Amino acid sequence: MPQELVPENNIPDLRPIEANDEDSDQPQQEGIDGPVESSMSADDENIMFNRLARRRAPRSKRDDLHPYTQTLVISEVDSCNIIEEATFPPQERASKEKIQYRIRVCPELTLGIYTSHTGSDIATASTSAPVYSGAPERKQVLLGHIIATKTTNAVVTDDDMAIPSPDSPPDATPGHKELGRTVCIHSLAVLPKFQGQGLGKTLIKAFVARLQVQDVAERVALIAHEHLVPFYTALGFESQGPSKAQFGGGGWIDMVQQISAPGIGDD
Ligand SMILES: CC(C)(COP(=O)(O)OP(=O)(O)OC[C@H]1O[C@@H](n2cnc3c(N)ncnc32)[C@H](O)[C@@H]1OP(=O)(O)O)[C@@H](O)C(=O)NCCC(=O)NCCS
Repeated sequence: MPQELVPENNIPDLRPIEANDEDSDQPQQEGIDGPVESSMSADDENIMFNRLARRRAPRSKRDDLHPYTQTLVISEVDSCNIIEEATFPPQERASKEKIQYRIRVCPELTLGIYTSHTGSDIATASTSAPVYSGAPERKQVLLGHIIATKTTNAVVTDDDMAIPSPDSPPDATPGHKELGRTVCIHSLAVLPKFQGQGLGKTLIKAFVARLQVQDVAERVALIAHEHLVPFYTALGFESQGPSKAQFGGGGWIDMVQQISAPGIGDD
């Protein structure tokens, strides 16, 4: 069940203290039974307190989002479609039909990153569901997603990027392979307005961590354009060189990360 993770009235105030406030009046620090004894003078304590306070990271745009991740559900196809249209050129984006197929056959290989939001200024707000019944105006708004399937191949092929047609036999080549040991990421995308805040990085790290715990695959693979190779390398993927996949016009690099599943009973 969707959850409200951080109540609005319980958000810590992490605003940095101004640089020139060392001489400002600070209330004397008190313990449970009265003032705490200290060998420092009150002035020295104030200076030290203000220096420590300034070292705290400034509040970022991401702090306000309180992002959280969870697997996608079929009712979120429209939100995913909005994200695909906002982030990929037409020849590279997944169709609504493909999104629907992938969430339906292997929802455990999907992950969404969300914020709880009451406004309508986020592209996916209109297609989002309420967070909880007590506050229907507050929605669980999708900001980014990962959508994947499994393959018996070691890297992503064009057949993996395709989906079976409705009249295909069950053993048809395209689409998800339940017995495959390679997870193919078809889509990693974050709404443009929320890019550059670490959400893409969080999605990949959370997704790989889940795969490790679920022990459902030996590796995770994707095809990427050259400019994103450093992004994926920094997240533990290795380049395997040019891909044979011609999806969306080709020109892809195969990226693979081995998954070391913790064995049962491991510490
Ligand atoms: C690629 C994408 C998912 C990254 O998401 P994001 O939330 O913007 O990325 P993050 O903020 O988590 O960035 C993490 C790091 O990657 C770097 N990075 C992000 N996008 C990058 C890009 N296009 N090229 C190179 N580096 C990039 C960031 O500088 C950051 O580095 P840092 O940790 O040293 O600061 C997002 O830009 C996107 O949706 N792009 C359009 C769709 C797409 O191309 N998807 C990938 C398909 S293979």
